[in-house]
Amino acid sequence: MFSATFKSLFAACALVVVTSAAPSSTACTGTISSMSDVTSAVKCTTVNINAFTVPAGQTFNLDLLQGSTVNMLNGNGHTFNGNGPFYWDGQGGNGGVTKPAPMMKIKISGTFTNVKVLNSPARTYSVSNPAPLTMSKLTIDNSLGDKPNSASGSKAAGHNTDGFDCSTHDLVIQDSTIKNQDDCLAINKGSNITFQRNTCSGGHGISVGSISSDATVSDIHILDNTIINNDQALRIKTKSDATSASVSGVTYSGNTATGTKKFGVLIDQSYPSTLGTPGNGCTISGINFVGTTNNIAVASGAQRVAVNCGSGSCTGSWDWSALKVSGGSAGKIVNFSGIKNFSQ
Ligand SMILES: *[C@@H]1O[C@H](CO)[C@@H](O)[C@H](O)[C@H]1NC(C)=O
Ligand SMILES: *[C@@H]1O[C@H](CO)[C@@H](O)[C@H](O)[C@H]1NC(C)=O
Repeated sequence: MFSATFKSLFAACALVVVTSAAPSSTACTGTISSMSDVTSAVKCTTVNINAFTVPAGQTFNLDLLQGSTVNMLNGNGHTFNGNGPFYWDGQGGNGGVTKPAPMMKIKISGTFTNVKVLNSPARTYSVSNPAPLTMSKLTIDNSLGDKPNSASGSKAAGHNTDGFDCSTHDLVIQDSTIKNQDDCLAINKGSNITFQRNTCSGGHGISVGSISSDATVSDIHILDNTIINNDQALRIKTKSDATSASVSGVTYSGNTATGTKKFGVLIDQSYPSTLGTPGNGCTISGINFVGTTNNIAVASGAQRVAVNCGSGSCTGSWDWSALKVSGGSAGKIVNFSGIKNFSQ
């Protein structure tokens, strides 16, 4: 179990939190005030962390005993400052500048709450919890990266700044706010993942994928989120060259989107192209919009719904009775006739 109240300031850091060992027999309290304190402090099941600066390029790795409690002390309003402007060049993972990514690597179970990340250099959270984990009341504010800087020319300085990249099971992410320049959520593989009551602003929307060969995704719940000014609101993207992969059981309920720039709902099997030639090595089934109406508004140049399936790889009957998409123009639904209770 990890329960944390964060009050700390880290600059130019990457944080890795892992639980990997059984508790030691003696309970003790370790205190971390600099990188050199880490090794001895993590031998205790209570770890107090004072505000300090992680030197650029180093990773602050907390390899905790099982059942540890981490308390963040002092510092600056629960904020991890990734010092993004120092790294941003508009090119994310492709640029000449090497960026710490992910900035926050979470491999714990229990709860993780009330943490703010400011200006992540590139991808923000990578989550691979070993047992059930609830992440709540988190803030990712990369909004400064919407503006160009001297290294990015006319492009937004922040790029590839995904909110949450998840390859995991038994995860809830809720009541959080994400302002960024890429996927708000990206589920690459895993099952039993719920993403609810979050607000996503300025990025690429809530995504399942991109799905690679041998990856399976199932039992996903995307509920009651607010999606503001994203390229897509809700998307499933599978790689055109993926084989032996599947996406099954994705439920959308109560999501609201405004200012959607490109696609309201996009299900595309041609990634990394958009609406290119689809592959059919990843089957998609059980994609449902049910329960509370999903109200998705798209901008005038955008498409409402586009579905680009490979031959025979979208299967079954999908209930889209709780989907309303307005604005823009209708998109195409290709290679699939199983969508029920919806017309655009
Ligand atoms: C799904 O995940 C939640 C926590 O994230 C957990 O409490 C629940 O037991 C999981 N359900 C199953 C069927 O494993
Ligand atoms: C259907 O899928 C196949 C590939 O699986 C693709 O080659 C074909 O172009 C698709 N059909 C249409 C109408 O796009």
